[in-house]
Amino acid sequence: MSRFIVVSNRLPVTITQVEDQFRFEPSVGGLATALSSVVTNESALWLGWPGLPEEDFSGQKEEVKASLLELRCFPVCLSQEELETFYYGFSNRTLWPLFHYFLQYTIFDHRFWEGYRSVNEKYAEAILSIADEEAIIWIHDYQLLLLPGLLREVLPRATIGFFLHIPFPSYEVFRVLPWRREILEGLLGADLIGFHTFDYARHFLSSVRRLLGYEHELGLIVTGTRAVKVEVFPISIDYRKFSEAPADQEVRDRIEKIRKELGDRRIVLSVDRLDYTKGIPQRLLAFEAFLERYPEFREKVILILVGVPSRTEVEHYQELKSEVDELIGRINGRFGTLGWTPIWYLSRVLHFKELAALYYLADVAMVTPLRDGMNLIAKEYVATVPEEKGTLILSEMAGAAAELSEAILVNPFSLEDLVGALKEALSLPRDERLVRNRRMKERLRRYDIHRWAKEFVQALGEVKKTQENFV
Ligand code: G6P
Repeated sequence: MSRFIVVSNRLPVTITQVEDQFRFEPSVGGLATALSSVVTNESALWLGWPGLPEEDFSGQKEEVKASLLELRCFPVCLSQEELETFYYGFSNRTLWPLFHYFLQYTIFDHRFWEGYRSVNEKYAEAILSIADEEAIIWIHDYQLLLLPGLLREVLPRATIGFFLHIPFPSYEVFRVLPWRREILEGLLGADLIGFHTFDYARHFLSSVRRLLGYEHELGLIVTGTRAVKVEVFPISIDYRKFSEAPADQEVRDRIEKIRKELGDRRIVLSVDRLDYTKGIPQRLLAFEAFLERYPEFREKVILILVGVPSRTEVEHYQELKSEVDELIGRINGRFGTLGWTPIWYLSRVLHFKELAALYYLADVAMVTPLRDGMNLIAKEYVATVPEEKGTLILSEMAGAAAELSEAILVNPFSLEDLVGALKEALSLPRDERLVRNRRMKERLRRYDIHRWAKEFVQALGEVKKTQENFV
Protein backbone atom coordinates (compact mmCIF):
# COMPACT_ATOMS: atom_id res chain seq x y z
CA MET A 1 0.00 0.00 0.00
CA SER A 2 1.88 3.08 -1.20
CA ARG A 3 0.06 6.32 -0.76
CA PHE A 4 0.52 10.05 -1.18
CA ILE A 5 -1.10 11.68 1.84
CA VAL A 6 -1.57 15.40 2.31
CA VAL A 7 -2.35 16.53 5.83
CA SER A 8 -3.62 19.94 6.90
CA ASN A 9 -5.76 21.16 9.76
CA ARG A 10 -8.71 21.83 7.45
CA LEU A 11 -9.86 19.70 4.56
CA PRO A 12 -10.22 21.60 1.27
CA VAL A 13 -14.01 21.41 1.31
CA THR A 14 -16.86 23.84 1.77
CA ILE A 15 -19.85 22.64 3.73
CA THR A 16 -23.44 23.54 3.12
CA GLN A 17 -26.11 22.43 5.51
CA VAL A 18 -29.73 22.06 4.48
CA GLU A 19 -31.73 21.22 7.60
CA ASP A 20 -29.67 18.40 9.08
CA GLN A 21 -28.14 17.24 5.79
CA PHE A 22 -24.53 18.16 5.02
CA ARG A 23 -23.12 18.64 1.54
CA PHE A 24 -19.39 18.86 0.95
CA GLU A 25 -17.94 20.45 -2.15
CA PRO A 26 -14.26 20.71 -3.04
CA SER A 27 -12.96 24.22 -2.37
CA VAL A 28 -10.51 25.55 -4.90
CA GLY A 29 -7.90 27.18 -2.66
CA GLY A 30 -4.29 27.58 -3.76
CA LEU A 31 -3.01 24.54 -1.93
CA ALA A 32 -5.68 22.27 -3.40
CA THR A 33 -4.78 23.50 -6.90
CA ALA A 34 -1.09 22.99 -6.20
CA LEU A 35 -1.59 19.45 -5.12
CA SER A 36 -3.63 18.52 -8.13
CA SER A 37 -0.44 19.01 -10.12
CA VAL A 38 1.63 16.62 -8.03
CA VAL A 39 -1.00 14.14 -6.96
CA THR A 40 -2.23 12.29 -9.98
CA ASN A 41 -2.05 8.99 -8.22
CA GLU A 42 -5.36 7.21 -7.60
CA SER A 43 -4.34 6.31 -4.06
CA ALA A 44 -3.78 9.92 -2.98
CA LEU A 45 -5.76 11.18 -0.02
CA TRP A 46 -6.15 14.45 1.86
CA LEU A 47 -6.52 14.12 5.60
CA GLY A 48 -7.88 16.83 7.91
CA TRP A 49 -10.69 18.35 9.92
CA PRO A 50 -13.97 18.76 8.00
CA GLY A 51 -14.64 22.20 9.55
CA LEU A 52 -17.47 21.39 12.02
CA PRO A 53 -17.37 20.07 15.59
CA GLU A 54 -18.28 16.40 15.51
CA GLU A 55 -21.26 17.02 17.81
CA ASP A 56 -22.90 18.76 14.82
CA PHE A 57 -23.02 15.53 12.83
CA SER A 58 -22.81 12.87 15.53
CA GLY A 59 -25.77 10.88 14.16
CA GLN A 60 -24.37 10.92 10.62
CA LYS A 61 -20.67 10.24 11.01
CA GLU A 62 -20.63 7.38 8.52
CA GLU A 63 -22.51 9.32 5.81
CA VAL A 64 -20.22 12.32 6.28
CA LYS A 65 -17.17 10.08 6.06
CA ALA A 66 -18.48 8.41 2.90
CA SER A 67 -19.25 11.66 1.10
CA LEU A 68 -15.83 13.04 2.02
CA LEU A 69 -14.09 9.90 0.83
CA GLU A 70 -15.73 10.40 -2.56
CA LEU A 71 -13.73 13.65 -2.73
CA ARG A 72 -10.61 11.72 -1.65
CA CYS A 73 -10.80 13.45 1.75
CA PHE A 74 -10.31 11.49 4.97
CA PRO A 75 -11.83 13.27 7.98
CA VAL A 76 -10.29 13.65 11.42
CA CYS A 77 -13.32 14.39 13.59
CA LEU A 78 -12.76 16.85 16.43
CA SER A 79 -15.08 17.52 19.35
CA GLN A 80 -16.02 20.96 20.60
CA GLU A 81 -13.69 20.44 23.55
CA GLU A 82 -10.78 19.42 21.33
CA LEU A 83 -11.36 22.47 19.15
CA GLU A 84 -11.31 24.72 22.24
CA THR A 85 -7.85 23.64 23.36
CA PHE A 86 -6.24 22.61 20.08
CA TYR A 87 -7.64 25.08 17.52
CA TYR A 88 -8.87 28.13 19.46
CA GLY A 89 -6.32 27.43 22.20
CA PHE A 90 -2.77 26.41 21.36
CA SER A 91 -2.94 26.95 17.58
CA ASN A 92 -4.61 30.34 17.58
CA ARG A 93 -4.01 31.81 21.05
CA THR A 94 -0.41 30.60 21.44
CA LEU A 95 1.40 29.70 18.21
CA TRP A 96 -0.32 32.12 15.82
CA PRO A 97 0.33 35.28 17.89
CA LEU A 98 3.82 34.17 18.98
CA PHE A 99 5.02 33.26 15.48
CA HIS A 100 3.69 36.62 14.21
CA TYR A 101 5.58 38.52 16.94
CA PHE A 102 2.43 39.39 18.94
CA LEU A 103 3.89 38.36 22.29
CA GLN A 104 1.37 40.55 24.10
CA TYR A 105 -1.48 38.38 22.72
CA THR A 106 0.21 35.03 23.40
CA ILE A 107 -1.32 32.79 26.07
CA PHE A 108 0.72 30.04 27.67
CA ASP A 109 -1.73 27.53 29.11
CA HIS A 110 -0.83 23.96 29.92
CA ARG A 111 -4.36 22.81 29.08
CA PHE A 112 -4.00 24.21 25.55
CA TRP A 113 -0.70 22.38 25.16
CA GLU A 114 -2.20 19.07 26.31
CA GLY A 115 -5.08 19.50 23.85
CA TYR A 116 -2.67 20.34 21.03
CA ARG A 117 -0.56 17.26 21.74
CA SER A 118 -3.52 14.93 21.96
CA VAL A 119 -5.09 16.23 18.71
CA ASN A 120 -1.72 15.86 16.94
CA GLU A 121 -1.74 12.26 18.26
CA LYS A 122 -5.23 11.83 16.86
CA TYR A 123 -4.03 12.95 13.44
CA ALA A 124 -1.13 10.49 13.71
CA GLU A 125 -3.51 7.63 14.49
CA ALA A 126 -5.73 8.53 11.54
CA ILE A 127 -2.71 8.58 9.21
CA LEU A 128 -1.40 5.30 10.57
CA SER A 129 -4.74 3.69 9.78
CA ILE A 130 -4.15 4.33 6.07
CA ALA A 131 -0.36 4.57 5.64
CA ASP A 132 2.69 2.35 5.88
CA GLU A 133 6.46 2.79 5.49
CA GLU A 134 6.11 3.32 1.73
CA ALA A 135 3.83 6.32 2.17
CA ILE A 136 4.75 9.85 1.16
CA ILE A 137 3.20 12.20 3.70
CA TRP A 138 3.13 15.97 3.24
CA ILE A 139 2.08 17.84 6.39
CA HIS A 140 1.05 21.50 6.40
CA ASP A 141 1.28 24.33 8.87
CA TYR A 142 1.51 25.34 12.49
CA GLN A 143 -1.47 23.36 13.77
CA LEU A 144 0.48 20.13 13.21
CA LEU A 145 4.04 20.79 14.35
CA LEU A 146 4.27 17.60 16.45
CA LEU A 147 2.92 15.31 13.77
CA PRO A 148 6.18 14.56 11.89
CA GLY A 149 7.81 13.31 15.11
CA LEU A 150 4.79 11.25 16.14
CA LEU A 151 4.70 9.51 12.77
CA ARG A 152 8.45 8.96 12.68
CA GLU A 153 8.31 6.93 15.91
CA VAL A 154 6.07 4.39 14.21
CA LEU A 155 7.22 4.68 10.57
CA PRO A 156 11.00 5.10 10.67
CA ARG A 157 11.37 4.77 6.88
CA ALA A 158 8.34 6.72 5.63
CA THR A 159 8.85 9.85 3.51
CA ILE A 160 7.62 12.84 5.50
CA GLY A 161 7.62 16.46 4.33
CA PHE A 162 6.54 19.46 6.37
CA PHE A 163 5.75 22.96 5.12
CA LEU A 164 5.21 25.96 7.41
CA HIS A 165 2.84 28.55 5.92
CA ILE A 166 3.45 31.21 8.57
CA PRO A 167 6.70 32.92 9.66
CA PHE A 168 9.17 31.06 11.85
CA PRO A 169 10.14 33.74 14.37
CA SER A 170 13.57 34.80 15.49
CA TYR A 171 15.12 32.62 18.23
CA GLU A 172 14.69 35.47 20.72
CA VAL A 173 10.91 35.20 20.28
CA PHE A 174 10.68 31.43 19.84
CA ARG A 175 12.67 30.75 23.03
CA VAL A 176 9.83 32.21 25.09
CA LEU A 177 7.64 29.18 24.33
CA PRO A 178 7.64 26.74 27.29
CA TRP A 179 7.28 23.78 24.88
CA ARG A 180 9.98 24.97 22.46
CA ARG A 181 12.04 21.77 22.55
CA GLU A 182 9.06 19.49 21.98
CA ILE A 183 8.03 21.60 18.97
CA LEU A 184 11.49 21.43 17.39
CA GLU A 185 11.80 17.71 18.05
CA GLY A 186 8.35 17.20 16.51
CA LEU A 187 9.39 19.03 13.35
CA LEU A 188 12.67 17.13 13.05
CA GLY A 189 10.64 13.96 12.49
CA ALA A 190 10.25 15.20 8.90
CA ASP A 191 12.77 14.49 6.13
CA LEU A 192 12.28 17.90 4.56
CA ILE A 193 11.10 21.09 6.27
CA GLY A 194 10.07 23.93 3.97
CA PHE A 195 9.73 27.65 4.68
CA HIS A 196 8.68 30.62 2.53
CA THR A 197 11.84 32.70 3.01
CA PHE A 198 15.54 32.40 3.90
CA ASP A 199 14.93 34.38 7.08
CA TYR A 200 12.37 31.89 8.42
CA ALA A 201 14.70 28.98 7.59
CA ARG A 202 17.61 30.80 9.25
CA HIS A 203 15.55 31.44 12.40
CA PHE A 204 14.57 27.79 12.57
CA LEU A 205 18.13 26.56 12.10
CA SER A 206 19.35 28.93 14.77
CA SER A 207 16.70 27.68 17.24
CA VAL A 208 17.65 24.07 16.49
CA ARG A 209 21.31 24.84 17.14
CA ARG A 210 20.75 26.76 20.35
CA LEU A 211 18.04 24.60 21.88
CA LEU A 212 18.95 21.11 20.65
CA GLY A 213 22.63 21.58 19.86
CA TYR A 214 22.46 20.30 16.25
CA GLU A 215 24.61 22.14 13.72
CA HIS A 216 23.77 22.17 10.03
CA GLU A 217 25.62 22.32 6.75
CA LEU A 218 23.84 24.17 3.95
CA GLY A 219 20.52 23.44 5.60
CA LEU A 220 21.24 19.77 6.26
CA ILE A 221 20.86 18.90 9.95
CA VAL A 222 22.36 15.61 11.11
CA THR A 223 20.77 14.53 14.37
CA GLY A 224 22.92 11.49 15.07
CA THR A 225 20.52 8.98 13.56
CA ARG A 226 18.95 10.91 10.70
CA ALA A 227 19.52 13.75 8.27
CA VAL A 228 16.84 16.42 7.89
CA LYS A 229 16.87 19.02 5.12
CA VAL A 230 15.67 22.58 5.58
CA GLU A 231 14.88 24.46 2.37
CA VAL A 232 13.11 27.53 1.04
CA PHE A 233 10.05 27.26 -1.24
CA PRO A 234 8.15 30.56 -1.54
CA ILE A 235 4.54 29.56 -2.16
CA SER A 236 2.84 31.14 -5.15
CA ILE A 237 -0.51 31.30 -6.92
CA ASP A 238 -2.25 29.74 -9.88
CA TYR A 239 -0.96 32.51 -12.15
CA ARG A 240 -2.98 31.53 -15.21
CA LYS A 241 -6.24 31.40 -13.32
CA PHE A 242 -5.80 34.99 -12.14
CA SER A 243 -4.24 36.46 -15.28
CA GLU A 244 -6.97 34.97 -17.46
CA ALA A 245 -9.88 35.86 -15.16
CA PRO A 246 -10.53 39.30 -16.72
CA ALA A 247 -11.36 37.57 -20.04
CA ASP A 248 -14.27 35.73 -18.41
CA GLN A 249 -17.67 37.18 -19.33
CA GLU A 250 -19.05 37.10 -15.81
CA VAL A 251 -15.96 38.89 -14.47
CA ARG A 252 -16.30 41.47 -17.28
CA ASP A 253 -19.94 42.09 -16.36
CA ARG A 254 -19.00 42.68 -12.75
CA ILE A 255 -16.21 45.04 -13.76
CA GLU A 256 -18.67 47.02 -15.89
CA LYS A 257 -21.19 47.23 -13.09
CA ILE A 258 -18.72 48.46 -10.48
CA ARG A 259 -17.18 50.90 -12.96
CA LYS A 260 -20.60 52.42 -13.66
CA GLU A 261 -21.24 52.95 -9.99
CA LEU A 262 -17.84 54.48 -9.35
CA GLY A 263 -17.52 56.71 -12.41
CA ASP A 264 -13.92 57.82 -12.82
CA ARG A 265 -13.01 57.57 -9.16
CA ARG A 266 -9.71 55.87 -8.39
CA ILE A 267 -9.84 52.68 -6.33
CA VAL A 268 -7.59 51.65 -3.47
CA LEU A 269 -8.19 48.02 -2.54
CA SER A 270 -7.58 46.19 0.71
CA VAL A 271 -8.43 42.48 1.09
CA ASP A 272 -7.67 40.31 4.13
CA ARG A 273 -8.98 37.85 6.62
CA LEU A 274 -9.99 40.01 9.58
CA ASP A 275 -6.83 39.24 11.52
CA TYR A 276 -4.79 41.49 13.82
CA THR A 277 -1.59 40.53 11.99
CA LYS A 278 -2.84 42.24 8.82
CA GLY A 279 -2.47 45.85 9.99
CA ILE A 280 -6.00 46.89 9.02
CA PRO A 281 -6.47 49.69 11.60
CA GLN A 282 -3.07 51.15 10.64
CA ARG A 283 -4.16 51.12 6.98
CA LEU A 284 -7.42 52.89 7.82
CA LEU A 285 -5.61 55.52 9.87
CA ALA A 286 -3.25 56.07 6.95
CA PHE A 287 -6.19 56.54 4.56
CA GLU A 288 -7.69 59.07 6.95
CA ALA A 289 -4.39 60.97 7.26
CA PHE A 290 -4.04 60.88 3.46
CA LEU A 291 -7.47 62.47 2.94
CA GLU A 292 -6.63 65.06 5.53
CA ARG A 293 -3.24 65.92 4.10
CA TYR A 294 -4.20 65.86 0.41
CA PRO A 295 -7.70 67.37 0.14
CA GLU A 296 -7.39 67.35 -3.67
CA PHE A 297 -7.97 63.57 -3.54
CA ARG A 298 -11.24 63.82 -1.61
CA GLU A 299 -14.21 62.61 -3.68
CA LYS A 300 -11.72 61.27 -6.24
CA VAL A 301 -10.64 58.12 -4.41
CA ILE A 302 -12.50 55.22 -2.81
CA LEU A 303 -11.05 52.64 -0.47
CA ILE A 304 -12.74 49.26 -0.92
CA LEU A 305 -12.00 47.25 2.20
CA VAL A 306 -12.79 43.54 2.25
CA GLY A 307 -12.52 41.93 5.70
CA VAL A 308 -13.27 38.21 5.71
CA PRO A 309 -14.49 37.13 9.18
CA SER A 310 -12.10 34.67 10.82
CA ARG A 311 -11.62 32.84 14.18
CA THR A 312 -14.47 34.88 15.62
CA GLU A 313 -14.43 33.04 18.96
CA VAL A 314 -11.02 34.49 19.85
CA GLU A 315 -11.33 37.79 21.77
CA HIS A 316 -8.59 39.65 19.86
CA TYR A 317 -10.46 39.01 16.62
CA GLN A 318 -13.68 40.35 18.14
CA GLU A 319 -11.86 43.44 19.38
CA LEU A 320 -10.35 43.99 15.96
CA LYS A 321 -13.79 43.77 14.32
CA SER A 322 -15.15 46.50 16.64
CA GLU A 323 -12.10 48.66 16.07
CA VAL A 324 -12.37 48.37 12.28
CA ASP A 325 -16.15 49.05 12.34
CA GLU A 326 -15.59 52.13 14.46
CA LEU A 327 -12.74 53.52 12.38
CA ILE A 328 -14.68 53.10 9.15
CA GLY A 329 -17.71 54.80 10.69
CA ARG A 330 -15.57 57.67 11.90
CA ILE A 331 -13.75 58.22 8.60
CA ASN A 332 -16.89 57.95 6.49
CA GLY A 333 -18.71 60.31 8.85
CA ARG A 334 -15.87 62.78 8.84
CA PHE A 335 -15.11 63.02 5.12
CA GLY A 336 -18.18 61.59 3.37
CA THR A 337 -20.43 63.78 1.23
CA LEU A 338 -23.87 63.08 -0.22
CA GLY A 339 -22.36 61.67 -3.40
CA TRP A 340 -19.22 60.05 -1.96
CA THR A 341 -18.59 57.41 0.70
CA PRO A 342 -14.80 57.27 1.18
CA ILE A 343 -14.70 53.62 2.35
CA TRP A 344 -16.80 50.75 1.02
CA TYR A 345 -16.67 47.92 3.51
CA LEU A 346 -17.46 44.30 2.70
CA SER A 347 -17.34 42.05 5.74
CA ARG A 348 -17.77 38.64 4.12
CA VAL A 349 -16.15 35.99 1.93
CA LEU A 350 -15.83 37.04 -1.72
CA HIS A 351 -16.21 34.58 -4.56
CA PHE A 352 -13.36 34.24 -7.01
CA LYS A 353 -15.11 36.23 -9.75
CA GLU A 354 -16.02 39.13 -7.45
CA LEU A 355 -12.46 39.23 -6.20
CA ALA A 356 -10.99 39.09 -9.71
CA ALA A 357 -13.18 42.04 -10.77
CA LEU A 358 -11.91 44.09 -7.82
CA TYR A 359 -8.27 43.19 -8.52
CA TYR A 360 -8.75 44.23 -12.14
CA LEU A 361 -10.30 47.57 -11.22
CA ALA A 362 -8.02 48.58 -8.37
CA ASP A 363 -5.56 51.38 -9.14
CA VAL A 364 -3.75 50.59 -5.93
CA ALA A 365 -3.68 47.51 -3.70
CA MET A 366 -2.62 48.17 -0.14
CA VAL A 367 -1.17 44.97 1.29
CA THR A 368 0.38 46.13 4.54
CA PRO A 369 0.38 43.35 7.15
CA LEU A 370 2.34 43.90 10.36
CA ARG A 371 3.66 40.36 9.88
CA ASP A 372 2.75 37.73 7.28
CA GLY A 373 4.23 34.39 6.25
CA MET A 374 3.85 35.12 2.52
CA ASN A 375 0.62 36.97 1.57
CA LEU A 376 -0.92 35.71 -1.61
CA ILE A 377 -3.29 38.68 -2.05
CA ALA A 378 -0.26 40.68 -3.23
CA LYS A 379 0.56 38.05 -5.85
CA GLU A 380 -3.06 37.60 -6.97
CA TYR A 381 -3.43 41.35 -7.49
CA VAL A 382 -0.25 41.63 -9.57
CA ALA A 383 -1.35 38.66 -11.70
CA THR A 384 -4.83 40.08 -12.39
CA VAL A 385 -4.43 43.84 -12.78
CA PRO A 386 -3.64 45.18 -16.31
CA GLU A 387 0.09 45.81 -16.54
CA GLU A 388 -0.16 49.52 -17.28
CA LYS A 389 -2.61 50.13 -14.49
CA GLY A 390 -2.08 48.88 -10.95
CA THR A 391 0.35 49.77 -8.21
CA LEU A 392 1.09 47.47 -5.32
CA ILE A 393 1.93 48.89 -1.90
CA LEU A 394 3.49 46.05 0.03
CA SER A 395 4.64 45.63 3.62
CA GLU A 396 8.28 44.80 4.23
CA MET A 397 7.01 42.39 6.89
CA ALA A 398 5.29 40.09 4.39
CA GLY A 399 7.21 37.12 2.99
CA ALA A 400 6.11 38.28 -0.49
CA ALA A 401 8.35 41.37 -0.17
CA ALA A 402 11.38 39.12 -0.76
CA GLU A 403 10.09 38.48 -4.30
CA LEU A 404 8.07 41.58 -5.22
CA SER A 405 10.74 44.22 -4.83
CA GLU A 406 9.21 46.41 -7.62
CA ALA A 407 6.25 47.17 -5.35
CA ILE A 408 6.26 50.29 -3.21
CA LEU A 409 7.66 48.72 -0.04
CA VAL A 410 6.61 50.19 3.29
CA ASN A 411 7.12 49.74 7.00
CA PRO A 412 3.49 49.17 8.08
CA PHE A 413 4.18 50.58 11.55
CA SER A 414 5.05 53.97 10.05
CA LEU A 415 2.04 56.19 9.35
CA GLU A 416 4.31 58.50 7.37
CA ASP A 417 5.46 55.63 5.14
CA LEU A 418 1.88 54.51 4.49
CA VAL A 419 0.58 58.01 3.66
CA GLY A 420 3.59 58.72 1.45
CA ALA A 421 3.14 55.40 -0.35
CA LEU A 422 -0.51 56.15 -1.08
CA LYS A 423 0.37 59.51 -2.55
CA GLU A 424 3.20 58.01 -4.60
CA ALA A 425 1.06 55.11 -5.83
CA LEU A 426 -1.73 57.40 -7.01
CA SER A 427 0.76 59.66 -8.79
CA LEU A 428 3.04 57.06 -10.43
CA PRO A 429 3.45 57.62 -14.21
CA ARG A 430 1.96 54.96 -16.50
CA ASP A 431 5.34 53.85 -17.91
CA GLU A 432 6.74 53.32 -14.46
CA ARG A 433 3.77 51.13 -13.51
CA LEU A 434 4.16 49.16 -16.69
CA VAL A 435 7.83 48.38 -16.10
CA ARG A 436 7.28 47.37 -12.48
CA ASN A 437 4.25 45.18 -13.17
CA ARG A 438 5.82 43.44 -16.16
CA ARG A 439 8.77 42.33 -14.09
CA MET A 440 6.64 41.07 -11.25
CA LYS A 441 4.15 39.33 -13.53
CA GLU A 442 6.93 37.53 -15.37
CA ARG A 443 8.40 36.29 -12.11
CA LEU A 444 5.03 35.04 -10.87
CA ARG A 445 4.27 33.41 -14.19
CA ARG A 446 7.49 31.41 -14.07
CA TYR A 447 7.32 30.32 -10.43
CA ASP A 448 3.64 29.51 -9.96
CA ILE A 449 1.87 27.25 -7.49
CA HIS A 450 2.38 24.16 -9.66
CA ARG A 451 6.10 24.71 -9.75
CA TRP A 452 6.15 25.29 -5.97
CA ALA A 453 4.45 21.96 -5.27
CA LYS A 454 6.57 20.08 -7.80
CA GLU A 455 9.81 21.46 -6.40
CA PHE A 456 8.84 20.51 -2.85
CA VAL A 457 7.91 16.95 -3.76
CA GLN A 458 11.03 16.58 -5.90
CA ALA A 459 13.25 17.86 -3.07
CA LEU A 460 11.58 15.40 -0.71
CA GLY A 461 12.58 12.53 -2.99
CA GLU A 462 16.16 13.86 -3.14
CA VAL A 463 16.46 14.06 0.66
CA LYS A 464 15.62 10.38 0.91
CA LYS A 465 18.56 9.65 -1.40
CA THR A 466 20.92 11.90 0.61
CA GLN A 467 19.90 10.11 3.80
CA GLU A 468 21.25 6.82 2.50
CA ASN A 469 24.74 8.28 3.09
CA PHE A 470 24.01 8.81 6.76
CA VAL A 471 22.79 5.42 7.92
C1 G6P B 1 -3.61 31.00 7.50
C2 G6P B 1 -2.98 29.70 7.96
C3 G6P B 1 -3.77 28.49 7.47
C4 G6P B 1 -5.23 28.65 7.82
C5 G6P B 1 -5.79 29.95 7.27
C6 G6P B 1 -7.26 30.20 7.65
O1 G6P B 1 -3.42 31.16 6.14
O2 G6P B 1 -1.63 29.62 7.57
O3 G6P B 1 -3.26 27.31 8.04
O4 G6P B 1 -5.99 27.57 7.35
O5 G6P B 1 -5.00 31.02 7.78
O6 G6P B 1 -7.43 30.14 9.03
P1 G6P B 1 -8.41 29.11 9.73
O7 G6P B 1 -8.09 29.24 11.18
O8 G6P B 1 -9.79 29.60 9.39
O9 G6P B 1 -8.13 27.74 9.18
